[in-house]
Formats: sequence, structure tokens, C-alpha cells
Amino acid sequence: MSRRYFIAGNWKMNKTAAEAKALIAEINALVGAETAVDVAVCPTFTALDAASQALKGSNVKLGAQNMYFEKSGAFTGEISADMLKEFGTEYVILGHSERREYFKECDCLINKKVKAVLANGMKPILCVGETLEQREGGKTIDVVSEQTVGGLKDVSKEDAEKVVVAYEPVWAIGTGKTATPEMAQEVHAEIRKVLAKLFGADTAEKIQILYGGSMKPENADALLKEKDIDGGLIGGAALKADSFAALVKSAKKLA
Ligand code: 13P
Repeated sequence: MSRRYFIAGNWKMNKTAAEAKALIAEINALVGAETAVDVAVCPTFTALDAASQALKGSNVKLGAQNMYFEKSGAFTGEISADMLKEFGTEYVILGHSERREYFKECDCLINKKVKAVLANGMKPILCVGETLEQREGGKTIDVVSEQTVGGLKDVSKEDAEKVVVAYEPVWAIGTGKTATPEMAQEVHAEIRKVLAKLFGADTAEKIQILYGGSMKPENADALLKEKDIDGGLIGGAALKADSFAALVKSAKKLA
């Protein structure tokens, strides 16, 4: 496969700075020298400084979990691109279903953030995914396509190569329920078709599409074997160094 595998840990609202430092030390010891697979951890904002120091000399990259699109100003509680870049942040998770649901983020806002991340030389990890109700109503492909098109509106073909898409079925997040490899592959293939329509087939072939939702060492091999599944955006299993490293090793076997 020409695309590299990518295993990214979304730590969500977990780990203080001190805990982040300790976890990264363990992760570094297990997979810090990895070169065949892209690896990143995405701690909370308050742990980015400690995390960036702990990642010095490691091949594991740093990501953030959100960012505001404005450069600076009266936006109480928000974080700008410059603030993230100060710590060497390379990736920014955007449009996670938890932000869509609890913080009412819409495609239009997510799109502004995607463009701001790209304009600042970082890489957005754009999350898309359907709820259980939408899946049962036969709307999965429509929902995921709309979120992909909406999130990537007005992104240039050149910038599109820096985008990572994460398919995270909402019903599989933190529930222990995983999409079967076939179910996930079907949606990933549809997402790649949408990307091909937006940016051309060559560019679409270069874009990493990650799966997220109860991915763990026990189910990773089968998911990662699928043609259009290029890695994972990992929640729970990224909070322990041994399970996170096991996922990196699963990807490495196939790389
Ligand atoms: P879990 O791996 O805990 O299901 O979380 C997935 C996720 O939301 C990653 O962004």
C-alpha cells in the first residue's frame, strides 16, 4: 500500500501534564523509534507543553484535540493556531462527534477550523461518523459524505494531501461495539469516493482514512487489513502504553 499507516491516540479529557509526561515516557520506550508507521498522541491543551518536551527525540508526533479558527482576540476559552504551534503540534483533531454533540459544532464551523489548521502548516484530522439512529435509518453514507464535503469545502487539492479523515461511527465510540471490518471498509471506500470527486482520484489515494471506535489490540489486525483502512484514531486503548504500542505493532506488521 502506498499510504502509510497512522495510529493516533485521542486522549480526550484525560491525563494531567504530569500523567502525560509519564505515559509518553512509556510510549517512547515501546514505539518511540518507530519509522514504518506514523504515530501521534493528542493530549489536552494543558499537557501539550509537557508532552512536547517528553517527545523530544521521539518519532511519535504531537496532536491537539481542537483549535479555534481566529488568529487571536476576544474568544474566551479558545486556543489559536500560534498557541498550538508553539509546542510543535503537527496534527489537530477537528469535528470529533463529542464536539459535534456536546458543543454543537457544525460542518460550517469545522470547515473554518480545517482551513485555519492547514493555513498554519498543521494537519487536520477531520472526524466524521453516523449515530446509531442514522445507521438504522439507512443514512450512514449520506451523513458521512455530507460531513466530509462540508468539512473540506474550499480546501485546495494541494492542501487536501495533508488532511487525515477519521471515520468514527458514534455508536462504536467508548461502547465496546466495533464496526465489523466489512462495515468499516464499506464506509471508508465511500469516503474515498467523495474525496476523489472533490480532489481527483490521485489525491484521494494519498489521503489516510483512519477508523475510530473501540479499536483495540484484539480487533485491530482485522480492521487494518481492509484496503481503505489506513490506521486508527484510538480513545480508551491509547491511555495505556502497552495497548497503544500493540496497535502500532499491528499496523507495522502490515506496513
Ligand atoms: P474509543 O477508542 O474509546 O472508542 O474512542 C474512539 C474515539 O472517539 C477516538 O477519537
